[in-house]
Amino acid sequence: MSASVIRALFSVASRPEVVSLAGGMPFVQALPLDSVADTVHRLIRERGASALQYGSGQGDPQLREQILEVVRPVGISCHPDDIVVTCGSQMALDLVTKVFCDPGDVVLVEAPSYVGALGVFASYQCEVRHLAMDEAGLLPHALQGALDTLAAEGRRAKMLYTIPSFQNPSGVTQTPERRRELLQIAQAAGLLVLEDDPYGLLGFTGEPPTALRAQDAESVIYLGSFSKTIAAGLRVGWVIAPHGVRERLVLAAESAVLCPSNFTQLTVSEYLATQPWQEQIKAFVELYRERRDALIQALQATMPVGTSWTVPQGGFYSWVTLPDGLDATAMLPRAIAGRVAYVPGTGFFADGQGSQQLRLSYCYPEPDRITEGVRRLAGVVEEELALQATFGTSLPTDPGLPATAVPGPEIS
Ligand SMILES: Cc1ncc(COP(=O)(O)O)c(C=O)c1O
Repeated sequence: MSASVIRALFSVASRPEVVSLAGGMPFVQALPLDSVADTVHRLIRERGASALQYGSGQGDPQLREQILEVVRPVGISCHPDDIVVTCGSQMALDLVTKVFCDPGDVVLVEAPSYVGALGVFASYQCEVRHLAMDEAGLLPHALQGALDTLAAEGRRAKMLYTIPSFQNPSGVTQTPERRRELLQIAQAAGLLVLEDDPYGLLGFTGEPPTALRAQDAESVIYLGSFSKTIAAGLRVGWVIAPHGVRERLVLAAESAVLCPSNFTQLTVSEYLATQPWQEQIKAFVELYRERRDALIQALQATMPVGTSWTVPQGGFYSWVTLPDGLDATAMLPRAIAGRVAYVPGTGFFADGQGSQQLRLSYCYPEPDRITEGVRRLAGVVEEELALQATFGTSLPTDPGLPATAVPGPEIS
């Protein structure tokens, strides 16, 4: 495990004068906080003795029943026993990797992929191989090619890790055809699929995309989370897994945390039972759609020719490709000096790709701050292009920036 070098920069980026398009923090201020307070108050008054007690390693039975309702819109129907509650889906990623992967095992992931998952795979010494994507998601021929290459090496992949809907960091969503093709390849190869779906209910148009797990209950392990639809601070997520896997996950969970917090599980359960949670998700979706629009309009209006970006149909992120020759990591200190922050693309790869790319998050800042942040970023890119024209290359990182790693804002 290693601390991210960009943490040091984010200690500067969290200053109020900097517009941070870096963090993937949900806008929890939009929750009806008085109602949440009433929910917690009622919970402690009426069920305090169980909320403050140890619970089951698999998670609260009533909450597992309620999760069935939450996954119905993505097409999943399962039994409450199929569900294991975790402390956020980050813990689920850790548990699944712990259970399945030995050092040196190959995990296939999208290019780019979620930084927190790459951290988990690295900590279990997995070998990560990235698979190319286009605007319809992970490319089936990239998956097939990787499986063929491994077979030629006399090896097999342990699993495919994918975020099919509103991916972090690219914002891309797999089309239904793509999902079918990918599942066919995985099934033919006997490949385990780890589907991470924290953003599935945060689509801006139409029905939520149908989960891979809805089409294959045997080879897909599904990860869900309340972090983006209720509150990240509650740390409640879940795994839906086939029977044999589930038993092992519960054992691994018990050895890590005994049981997930009963207090936060019952808070979620009470919230789902008494609050209009579907309406609240719609309110979040409206808010994020407005911010996505502000981001895309500002990119269109200000970014120099040669810059491109994805237009997400849900979730929190757009993936930007800089003009040829520019390096997003080298540019970051100058961007922060220009009072705007982003996450450089290399963080989303295990193999050093991504230097020309960066991730912009629109979930947290208000729309006018997003517009201002993009205007500043465009200015920095213009200057970078001017430097490149003068010196023939992107300048290196400024050595005068803070060297100590200070925990910065959430950069998931
Ligand atoms: C793709 C993905 N998976 C997992 C997580 C972790 O979520 P949780 O808060 O449920 O641990 C995140 C958080 O940003 C994410 O983007």
